[in-house]
Amino acid sequence: MSVPAGQSAETPKRLVVLISGRGSNLGALIEACEQDRIPAQIVGVISNRPDAAGLGFAEQHHIPHRVLNHRDYPSREAFDADLATAIEDYAPDLVILAGFMRILTPGFVDRFTGRMLNIHPSLLPKYRGLDTHARALADGEPEHGASVHFVTPELDGGPVIMQARVPVDPNDTPDTLAARVQRAEHRLYPEAVRRVCSGEIQWSGRILQADGSPLEAPLQLDEDTHDV
Ligand code: GRF
Repeated sequence: MSVPAGQSAETPKRLVVLISGRGSNLGALIEACEQDRIPAQIVGVISNRPDAAGLGFAEQHHIPHRVLNHRDYPSREAFDADLATAIEDYAPDLVILAGFMRILTPGFVDRFTGRMLNIHPSLLPKYRGLDTHARALADGEPEHGASVHFVTPELDGGPVIMQARVPVDPNDTPDTLAARVQRAEHRLYPEAVRRVCSGEIQWSGRILQADGSPLEAPLQLDEDTHDV
């Protein structure tokens, strides 16, 4: 991530968060920024759905926000073009996908290479795509979790920065497992974003680096994830 002219390395990073629904990860990120756990401020929230409950978090915390309804566009390309402009209007250092339920065009993704993160509810590369909790249960997995990765044109396929693992209980349903994973996500995403904002983690399209050395395997959120 480059530091724009006129800003020092200590200047809080500018985050734009994209949502489609509940926005609980947005809420966790807002709290982390407000408590100075991340050297960043959320300068904008964009939803592709007018009814996204997460817009309420932006409202309550006086964060600029807007809706770009994908149904108003004739094509994915047209929507992504306006979305890119809307994002750039906020001049972000980092774009955070937090439950943004859209498949993105390669042109859009390329524009934000190295500056766009996503959180996915599985231990990638396992269970890309949807219904991850039910699929993990059907396979009898002993553990499950969430991953934060840089976004590439391949769905849920970008380099993974950090993961949180949770145990699978024999009595779990997809809903109980999802709830446990989400609680872990709310600790994982702020911590992963913090590491990118501080410059500890970097990726510009080639080798994922942590503190200047190649990151061979995803970082793991500390062990007490299991207690949340
Ligand atoms: C999270 O489980 C995340 O992993 C997935 O979408 C969900 C968003 O939840 N990408 P919320 O809107 O942040 O509550």
